[in-house]
Amino acid sequence: MYENPRLILDSSNPPEPGAITWRSPSNIAIIKYWGKHGVQLPRNPSLSLTLAASCTDTRLEYAFRDEAHGGPVDLDLYFHQQANEAFRAKTLAYLESLAAVYPFLKQLKLTVHTGNSFPHSAGIASSASAMSALALCLCSLEDKLFGTLQDTAEFDRKASYLARLGSGSACRSIFPYAALWGETALVPGSSNEFAVPVGDLIHEQFRDFHDDILIVSTEEKAVSSRAGHALMDDNPFAEPRYAQARQRLDALLSAMRTGDLETFGKIVEDEALTLHALMMSGNSSYLLIKPDSLAIIEKVREYRAATGQPVYFTLDAGPNVHLLYPGNIVHEVRKFIEDELAEHCENGYVQQDWVGEGPEEL
Ligand code: DP6
Repeated sequence: MYENPRLILDSSNPPEPGAITWRSPSNIAIIKYWGKHGVQLPRNPSLSLTLAASCTDTRLEYAFRDEAHGGPVDLDLYFHQQANEAFRAKTLAYLESLAAVYPFLKQLKLTVHTGNSFPHSAGIASSASAMSALALCLCSLEDKLFGTLQDTAEFDRKASYLARLGSGSACRSIFPYAALWGETALVPGSSNEFAVPVGDLIHEQFRDFHDDILIVSTEEKAVSSRAGHALMDDNPFAEPRYAQARQRLDALLSAMRTGDLETFGKIVEDEALTLHALMMSGNSSYLLIKPDSLAIIEKVREYRAATGQPVYFTLDAGPNVHLLYPGNIVHEVRKFIEDELAEHCENGYVQQDWVGEGPEEL
């Protein structure tokens, strides 16, 4: 959709070397993206809250190199100041895949310095923050070199599109407060190609939500998200699941519009359990949650029943539990976490996060 052979540098008038830096956050899905087809296209629309504290800083340095643009991308990559071959290879493959969108990348020497605000080994997924930060750097680079992304909405849309090609969920990290990815008649302008902002469609209390991430295990997952998506292709429950996600999105958008916390919380938890039920009920069944994940889930439900406080859990494709709750009860909930839940976390580790305003250029 963004292929553009005109984005080529004029070697008789080469650009000065420069650098661009973006900080981009992770996001937590309320309606989950699970199952994809084609080139990173989702089987159902998903909706997420944009986080603030779990983020990636990426600096992209560039210098013109007088090479024909048919050669490979020239890339060095440093993760927390260390050359990192695994991340370099992944990033290189991604940049190579953008040859038709950004043919000028092959005319540059690129150096990426990247790092996360959370410990690398914390078991927190970083693909959303990392790929969105890189995509934003690429859009800023395009605009710097060609002046073609002056319109903010178009800049964000293209950044979201490019982030999606790196990691599906990353396309939702571009926008403040909340984002929707996937075409649905419920939100005009929504698309499978990029996410759209929906912060304006939700009650203000959701902009003041917390997401404390209880790190149950930092072990590498037995099945990656990529492999998990692929296993949906022959999951016997796939079609009803995709229909269910659409119905839940409808109910969620109404609840988030009106500030109906109870309905929001029910959908959040149902989605988390459905995601893991899909993993358990496929033809190649697998389990990512741990006994401590379940212990936390049970304690959260007991706490809610006993106190009436609107605290809800959700899960990504892993064992860590996210606790979602409004900002006005932060003190009580943090005490509950400390007294009862931290004991289920690896080394008692909890990553405190909250809904944020989206990426920023540094
Ligand atoms: C369970 O975005 O990590 O977190 O597109 O293959 O990179 P790829 O997958 P990824 O999948 C995330 C799945 C999820 C739910 C969600 O974030 O919507």
